Amino acid sequence: MTHRAQNYIVSHMNTTEIMSKERWQRVLENSQDRETPFQLILSDVIEEKYQELLDAIPFAKIYYAVKANPAPAVLSLLDRLGSNFDVASVYELRRLQELGISADRMSCGNTIKKFEHIKEFYAAGIRLFVTDSEGDLRNIAMAAPGSKIMVRLMTEGAQTADWPLSRKFGCSPDLAGDLLILARKLGLQPWGLSFHVGSQQRDITAWDSALSKVSYLFTWLLENEDLKLSCINMGGGFPATYRERTNPVQTYADEIKRYLEEDYGDILPEIIIEPGRSLVGDSGVLVSEIVLISRKSRTALERWVYQDCGRFGGLMETLGEAIHYPILCERNGPLEQVILAGPTCDSMDTLYEDYRYELPLSLAVGDRLYWLSTGAYTSSYSAIEFNGFPPLQTLVI
Ligand SMILES: Cc1ncc(COP(=O)(O)O)c(C=O)c1O
Repeated sequence: MTHRAQNYIVSHMNTTEIMSKERWQRVLENSQDRETPFQLILSDVIEEKYQELLDAIPFAKIYYAVKANPAPAVLSLLDRLGSNFDVASVYELRRLQELGISADRMSCGNTIKKFEHIKEFYAAGIRLFVTDSEGDLRNIAMAAPGSKIMVRLMTEGAQTADWPLSRKFGCSPDLAGDLLILARKLGLQPWGLSFHVGSQQRDITAWDSALSKVSYLFTWLLENEDLKLSCINMGGGFPATYRERTNPVQTYADEIKRYLEEDYGDILPEIIIEPGRSLVGDSGVLVSEIVLISRKSRTALERWVYQDCGRFGGLMETLGEAIHYPILCERNGPLEQVILAGPTCDSMDTLYEDYRYELPLSLAVGDRLYWLSTGAYTSSYSAIEFNGFPPLQTLVI
C-alpha cells in the first residue's frame, strides 16, 4: 500500500497545530516501505522546543531528563545545544559518557540508588545529588563526599497532572529541613530544594504551591539554622501537545517567574529545570498498522481496533488511559467510536476502552495509524520480547 499525504484526519486536532505540512511530508517520506511499528523522531522539533524553553525561562539552567528519550542521537543533539543532563541511573550515565558528555554537566535526580552506584556517579564526576531520605543521604555522604545536596519536597497537583509522580518521591518540609541540616553535619553541601509537580502538569498554580513551601524553608533554615540555600530545582512537568489543551510554555514561564519574584525579588537563587516530555514529546511520530477490526456482538456500537503496537510496544503511558495522543489515520468520512488495543495476548494491552477515540468507519486492516507527540516515554518503555515482539525501533531524522 502506498501512503500518501492527502486524506488524513486527526481526531479532535488539526495537524497543523502540531506539525507543519513540510514536517508531515517528511514523516511520510521516511515512513514509506518501512515495516511497522516504528517511531520517527524529528530532531528539528527538539531543537525548536529547546530554544523555546531557553527563551521563555532564560534564568534557568536546563538539565534534560534523559529518561524521557535516551536515544543517542537525541542526547548528542541536546549536548550540541548546550543542555545539561539529569540521570536516573548509572546506565544513563554510561550512555552519556560513551557520547563524550562530561559528568560535570550531569545531576543525579533519582532519590533511589544503590551505594555502589553512588560511588560510580561520584567517580565519574557527578557532584549534584537529589535525595529525600536519611538512608540515601548517609550513603551519599560516604560514597560522594562533599557533594551538593538537593532535598526533594513532596508536592500536590496529582489531580491536574496527566502523569503524576506524587507519594513515591519527596518528603514533607519538616523532614526536608532536617535532611539539609544533617547534610551539613555530614560534610555535604546543603545546596537547595527540588520538586516535581507531576508530568504533563496542566495547572500552573501547582508550581505556586510548591514554591511557597520552598520559600518557607529557605527563610526558616536561614533564620533558625544559619543555613543559606542556593538553588531551586523545579523538575519537569511542562507539557507536550496531546489532545487536551494546555497553556503555552511562555505562560508557564511568566507565571513561574512571577511566583519567584514575589518570594526572592530581583535576586533569584540558582534555578534548575529538568524538562523531559516538553522537550522531546512533540518530536515523535509512532507509526503502527491495523491488524484486526472486530465487533464483540452483532449489535455492538463500537469496534475493537487492534494494531501492531500496544502498551508493550512503547505506548505505556496509556496505562490508566492517562496520556491521550493525537492519532492520524489514512481515511476520511463518517466516524465511529473505537476501542484501541495492541497485538499481544494480554488484556492489559488494551490502550483506550473508557476514553473513546473516533475513527472513520472506512478504516481497514492494513491501514496505518500515526501517533503524534510520542517522542517522550515510549521507546524506552517498550518490552524487549513480550510475546516475542521486538522492541520499538526508533529513527531520528
Ligand atoms: C527527577 C525527574 N526530573 C525530571 C523529570 C521529567 O519530567 P517531565 O517529563 O514531566 O518534564 C522526571 C520525570 O519522571 C523526573 O523523575
